[in-house]
Amino acid sequence: MNTPFAKELGLSFPLFMAPMFLVSNQEMVIAGIKKGIVGSFPSLNFREKGELEAVLDELNEQVSRHPGTYAVNLIAQRSNPMFDKHLDICVEKKVPIYITSLGSPKKVIEKAHKYGAKVYCDVTNIKYAQKVYDLGCDGFIAVGQGAGGHSGNTPLNVLVPALKKRYSDKPVIASGGIATGAGIVSALALGADAAYIGTRFIASNECPVNEAYKSAIVRAGMDDIVMSSKISGTPATVINTDYAKKIGYKQNYMEKQLTKNRTVRKYFKMWVQYSGMKKLEDSIKPGNYKTLWVAGKSSELVDEIKPVGRIIDDLILESKESLDKLTALNATTPQNP
Ligand SMILES: Cc1cc2nc3c(=O)[nH]c(=O)nc-3n(C[C@H](O)[C@H](O)[C@H](O)COP(=O)(O)O)c2cc1C
Repeated sequence: MNTPFAKELGLSFPLFMAPMFLVSNQEMVIAGIKKGIVGSFPSLNFREKGELEAVLDELNEQVSRHPGTYAVNLIAQRSNPMFDKHLDICVEKKVPIYITSLGSPKKVIEKAHKYGAKVYCDVTNIKYAQKVYDLGCDGFIAVGQGAGGHSGNTPLNVLVPALKKRYSDKPVIASGGIATGAGIVSALALGADAAYIGTRFIASNECPVNEAYKSAIVRAGMDDIVMSSKISGTPATVINTDYAKKIGYKQNYMEKQLTKNRTVRKYFKMWVQYSGMKKLEDSIKPGNYKTLWVAGKSSELVDEIKPVGRIIDDLILESKESLDKLTALNATTPQNP
């Protein structure tokens, strides 16, 4: 099962392993490349001097030997102090695909297109999609309702066809709540050119987070996922652990005022994001009880911790089974005379 878009990228299956802050590591991405999909990671996962350069060298080497490829996620928001530096490193190492989230992707598009790289932008609505379309993006990551992290608020059933209707010349990659082959097939049925999966890959052997987080993903049902603004100031999906309950889900009065204040808001947001980052970093370490674990509602559908390669094999098999079921349904439906 493949799509023209995925074939154009040289993939064997129309799937992106989504970038996840503090979660996606080099091993997960390599496992994805070996299986012929797009592996990705946020550049912010490699902040030590020389780290990002070394990872990109290794991934370029893997891409030259295997069917898949990789993408780097750049947070284009002004409050990301590493944006320019990371973009320059990625350009120097000729990263094949960029995924941008938040802020303006203008610089990324300009620099990437100079050497033929592709830029896909996270979008949650038509207004922002139009902006990145006008800037010359190569396609959209349609982030729908229920996605892990900063989810959108429009269901994929609406967002994907709406983007395809307006921008039929651009690929749309469906993100949010997909964790099974049936989910992938349903995204393709909506008109998506590929699927984008995050949460299911947290429960993988290669994933560097602690075992408690992985087990919590396996245990969590959809009702255990809540929105919390305590990490970045913007609502994000987390597992409703005792610690998440204890600190509450919303910013307090003072925090809200500081977020609005013209003079200090830039610095306050940077501080919120920095301290949120620290909380998340602590949460993924072994034995930590102050747990803020980001996960999407698709954790409902994750039953086991497995190697990335086996998760991808399962997704391929499940997709085929799902497609076969639909085909059988079509064959047994009486045709009109
Ligand atoms: C733990 C976690 C961390 C995430 N971090 C990022 C990130 O750094 N950058 C980004 O663009 N999206 C991030 N996301 C969103 C994913 O890239 C993707 O859109 C989402 O996981 C898709 O929904 P799903 O989890 O239901 O598959 C994150 C999601 C999760 C679950």
